Amino acid sequence: HDVVCVDIDHEKVRKINNGETPIYEDGLEGMLSQALQKNKLHATTDIDSIKETDFIFVAVGTPSKDNGSIDLKYIEAASADIANFIKSRTYCTVVVKSTVLPETTEKVVLPVLEKSGKKAGEDFGLCMNPEFLREGKALEDFFNPDRIVIGGIDAKSGDSLEKLYSDFKAPIMRTDLKTAEFIKYASNAFLATKITFINEIGNMCKNLGIDVYDVAEGMGLDKRIGKHFLHAGIGFGGSCFRKDVEALLAKSKEVKSVSKILSVVLDINKDQPLKIVHLLKKRLPDLEGKTIAVLGLAFKEGTDDIRDAPSIIIISELLKHNCKINSYDPKASNNMRKLYPDINYCGSVSDALSGSDACIILTGWDELKKLSDKDFNNMNNKIIIEGRKVLSKDLVTGFEGVCW
Ligand code: UDX
Repeated sequence: HDVVCVDIDHEKVRKINNGETPIYEDGLEGMLSQALQKNKLHATTDIDSIKETDFIFVAVGTPSKDNGSIDLKYIEAASADIANFIKSRTYCTVVVKSTVLPETTEKVVLPVLEKSGKKAGEDFGLCMNPEFLREGKALEDFFNPDRIVIGGIDAKSGDSLEKLYSDFKAPIMRTDLKTAEFIKYASNAFLATKITFINEIGNMCKNLGIDVYDVAEGMGLDKRIGKHFLHAGIGFGGSCFRKDVEALLAKSKEVKSVSKILSVVLDINKDQPLKIVHLLKKRLPDLEGKTIAVLGLAFKEGTDDIRDAPSIIIISELLKHNCKINSYDPKASNNMRKLYPDINYCGSVSDALSGSDACIILTGWDELKKLSDKDFNNMNNKIIIEGRKVLSKDLVTGFEGVCW
């Protein structure tokens, strides 16, 4: 396929055309430069420079408003640009990829597109096609999806998109627009709930002297439960789970079928990062002015993204105790620096640990998994608490986990 990326952000467009990825994602830079070399991809800020196209994917952000509902301003603006574009073009299919609540494609996107004077289902196609990839595993997930969900306004729209995906070896599920939209929200809400459930079990395990990872393994062997997304820790972060759960909760209120479970999930997840600070206080009752090594800042391994990262809440709490923070992250330091310019960003684990009174591990980076006792020798006290299951008991002694 020939792909044109359109964005209003000139800097992003410049970077893409230059072979630089605006975010860190394993394997993406190589893939981008290959596509550029083959002349199969370029970016532009000018949608009108595109002559004709078979598909237009809408992949703009859907941030939250203060009340948790989703802000559709980017969806509306992109739809208006597309309406203008399709006015003078032949039939193409518009595909909403952005995560939008049930009814958005039909009630928000479609009316804006039809302002072009063209009719959906006749003059242009319209689909909703949610994306389920995870950051840090984006390429692997994109190319090997568990399923492809195609919601179409009519059979022709859905058929054309199904053909586009014909090389993918995944079950394709065809639905209407709002069902496709809901599948995405229900999936994210379920995953967030699953993590929260195991975190609650983990909190109990901690008080009982049980390793929650053994409990999770025993649960996960039951096919009905499954072993995935049962990793207890300092809670889920990232740009999707909180935002999507909040948006679904707001929608549940709007349709007068208020979700109880989702508000509890959000509450528990808000408290979960602070568990590690409570543990730290148990070990270092006078936290005031202590030097704390923070290993891992990104919301998860494999990304430089810090959106909703538990590390943000934890660092803010430590700063209230006037702690000196020596942080280390292989990718996310530059992003965190914008938020906390005054903490220390170290170039290595060893620099971060040197002279520290305690160490907390907040992201499951592979390089942290290899740490052994000798790596912690330069600390003042060997107090190590992990918020993600990272360290190996065979290599490191005397550490504890937030729920294990
Ligand atoms: C998520 C969904 O998984 C993905 O399908 C959707 O398209 C976007 O949102 P992402 O946020 O990139 O993906 O990462 P994910 O792997 O789901 O992790 C989200 C957060 O949950 C991370 O902070 C992670 O550390 C945490 N997590 C994940 C757990 O605490 N325990 C787990 O078992 C799994």
